[in-house]
Amino acid sequence: MCLILFYRSHSLTQALAANWDNQGPDSVLEYRGYFATIAQIPQKEPALFPKYWLFIIWDTWDILVAMIKQLDELYRIDNYNDTFALGHYARVMDALDRRSGHMVAFKVMRPEHLSADGDVRWEYRAFANEASLLMKLADSPHVVDLLDCGFVSSPAEHPDDGEIVSFQHDVMGFGTAIEEYAAQGWRPFLSLQNLPRTRNLLYLMKPNHPGVRWRLPSEEGIALALQFANILRLAHQNQVVYLDHKLEHVYWDGTHLQIIDFNSSRQLNPAENGHEFQFSLDVHNLCVGILYPIFTGLSPQKAALRPQPGRLSDVEERYKNITQLDFGVEPTLSEGIKELLQAGAAMQLANVDEFIEGLRVAGAALGWDFPNHYTSPASRDARTQMRAGVTRLRNGQDSLREARDLFREAAIQEGITPELEHELRRLVKSVNEMLTHRVIP
Ligand SMILES: Nc1ncnc2c1ncn2[C@@H]1O[C@H](COP(=O)(O)OP(=O)(O)O)[C@@H](O)[C@H]1O
Ligand SMILES: [Mg+2]
Repeated sequence: MCLILFYRSHSLTQALAANWDNQGPDSVLEYRGYFATIAQIPQKEPALFPKYWLFIIWDTWDILVAMIKQLDELYRIDNYNDTFALGHYARVMDALDRRSGHMVAFKVMRPEHLSADGDVRWEYRAFANEASLLMKLADSPHVVDLLDCGFVSSPAEHPDDGEIVSFQHDVMGFGTAIEEYAAQGWRPFLSLQNLPRTRNLLYLMKPNHPGVRWRLPSEEGIALALQFANILRLAHQNQVVYLDHKLEHVYWDGTHLQIIDFNSSRQLNPAENGHEFQFSLDVHNLCVGILYPIFTGLSPQKAALRPQPGRLSDVEERYKNITQLDFGVEPTLSEGIKELLQAGAAMQLANVDEFIEGLRVAGAALGWDFPNHYTSPASRDARTQMRAGVTRLRNGQDSLREARDLFREAAIQEGITPELEHELRRLVKSVNEMLTHRVIP
């Protein structure tokens, strides 16, 4: 059996050929920007091959042809789906993954982060950082699934032609290839499980009228906080801090939490100590950046909710000086929740476990059952009934939205009478007014 070794640099491939190929360095072949050479597999010590060489044991050329494809062979790129909360690093589009037949979210680096001098900026490297962290945390059901990663040749903000190279789950290979593809002006992309925007908490909670504000029921808020704490616990065990807590990164359907965007998250060096501050900061950012808004409907800067800037420096600065939370707008919010969030804001919670302990105290006072925290049987029963009510409220609001959409679509049908159109528009307006005063975001 022989081995095809291939790389994107001619000189490196030549050097490799000189080392391993019986035929000498002249046997380097080129295919669509790739250089390859054929060598006999060494009988002993195959591990001598340095890891950063991409080598595949094969006996044909076909693997090279498989590596680079036309973008359109792998993905049909549809519309932008990020317009309500633009990211700093990327544009994100709905896309059809032709290999799986599923719709995905195609996150591609903004063209403005390419540099003319071939310098690889942080924004470029952030994609490898994100891919690697997503794989590391892939066991969590609350972290968006990474489906593919790679590079596209198109310089367009919305790429729909040109070439693509796909590394699938090989995030190491993806990270290693960054310099080469950056030098050629290709841009990194990630393909992610597509999450419906109707579950995005910024999309749901951003008011559309002045003075309007929604908050999650405490029951749901506590469930969300517990699931978020589970993500942070897994992350911190892996020496990863999330840092970029904001509503546009959170998807919630009433029972299940999923989060996106690990671009600004950080892998701490496991060999070093002294990460306690970072872990406590992650809990602070959760309390300030996510939980305060979901329980009050306000941003922690006490303004109406709106998208937050997302450069690396913004992430570091965003909640830095917020150590005091004002619950004046929500006087009925339970003391346990207020105390917990305030302790997080004041950096008094040293780690996720302390946060979870405080959450249990707050939950027990609202009828939740936790080990070592008493809740009365009557409160437990009342909570069961409240949950049933909240489910019905969600179903009711879904039905209202469906009804509104039916009226709205009917109102724009060609050829209907003006009377019918007026009536349909009146109904749309009335339902919208009801939805403005909805109970759950
Ligand atoms: N997996 C996804 N499913 C659906 N929409 C997504 C997904 N990932 C990102 N988006 C949309 O794109 C926006 C920007 O994505 P994000 O990952 O935050 O990019 P950036 O790293 O540039 O901040 C999000 O606010 C969201 O609207
Ligand atoms: Mg983002």
